[in-house]
Amino acid sequence: MAQVKGKLKRIGILTGGGDCPGLNAVIRGVTKPALDNGLQVFGINDGFEGLVEGKGQQLYNKDVSGILSLGGTILGSSNKGDPFHWPEEIEGKIKIVDRGEKALKNYEAWGLDCLIAIGGDGTMHIANKLAKMGMNVVGVPKTIDNDLEATDQTFGHDSAVYVVSEALDRLHTTASAHHRVMVIEVMGRYAGWIALNGGMAGGADIILIPEFPFKWEAVYEKVISRNMLGKRFSLVCVSEGATAEGGELVIKAKDKKRTDPIQLGGIGEIVAKMIESQTGLETRYTVLGHTQRGGSPTPYDRILSTKFGVYAIDLAMKKKFGRMVALKGNEIKSVNIEEAIAKQKCVLKDTQTLQSALAIGVSFGSPELELE
Ligand code: F6P
Repeated sequence: MAQVKGKLKRIGILTGGGDCPGLNAVIRGVTKPALDNGLQVFGINDGFEGLVEGKGQQLYNKDVSGILSLGGTILGSSNKGDPFHWPEEIEGKIKIVDRGEKALKNYEAWGLDCLIAIGGDGTMHIANKLAKMGMNVVGVPKTIDNDLEATDQTFGHDSAVYVVSEALDRLHTTASAHHRVMVIEVMGRYAGWIALNGGMAGGADIILIPEFPFKWEAVYEKVISRNMLGKRFSLVCVSEGATAEGGELVIKAKDKKRTDPIQLGGIGEIVAKMIESQTGLETRYTVLGHTQRGGSPTPYDRILSTKFGVYAIDLAMKKKFGRMVALKGNEIKSVNIEEAIAKQKCVLKDTQTLQSALAIGVSFGSPELELE
């Protein structure tokens, strides 16, 4: 780790990976106290891509004023800029090369004492590698997926859940009017948090998540039994990473420029078609996609993001590098980045929200859970 003599003078900040609501609130939460404490803040553009390519500019109060409620990120982001998995065109072909040294050189050339990296697990993995090369880093966990074990919640998740919940409310009325089954596909990658929390908030009758592969028959039975009880419509909330028992992930595309080349998508359509063909019930599907990532953060996310940002700059000023801020209960604390990336947070059998959903009759289509 590079030694910083005396007080910190200049910090860099970047937002990496897929965007989510609350990124600007973190940037503001870091920058305002930093400037008040006499530090210079250098905003790096488009995540780690900007660190490798040398793109960035100094941030002033005017840059971070009025951005609390703004979605996206004023710095730009990218999920193709991993310095250690850098796609470069060599002799007409895309080759993956290591540009870690280049990232470090730019950090030094900009005169940075610390880098505040705001991102999900991919960003934290990169930050950890850069820390091992001598960079002083502090991480801030974002992702709508909420799949980082080290923090009770990532910012962005609540905003995504709000979008799912609102969409389900809207689908509810049209489903009921037309006596249809409505399937909604939500994001979350390999974790079911968005589907579970969004589905719970929006009153879904069936929630399908990656952690518990579902049985087709259980899904059909649930919609048929609702019909027989006089409930002539059903809401099915499917996580993009959900799979049927013995089935495979439904992949929309692959892009080797990304650290994780897999782009999920398509399970919602399959579930809708199967329900319609096997039960005879009219079914429609909606893919929420990036509406879950766009727009203004919820009040919860604005507050969490601001607290994360303020805590991150405090860690940096105290020279507590190699750490990631984290929500533990109601308090913001910090954990070692290495620890933070060791485990993905998944929905478990004893997750209280899942147990509550089961108690009110929600089906997960999983024999493992129905036996409880
Ligand atoms: O990790 C956040 C996320 O929105 C996932 O839920 C989703 O699978 C993925 O990113 C989509 O990535 P992209 O915007 O690159 O298609």
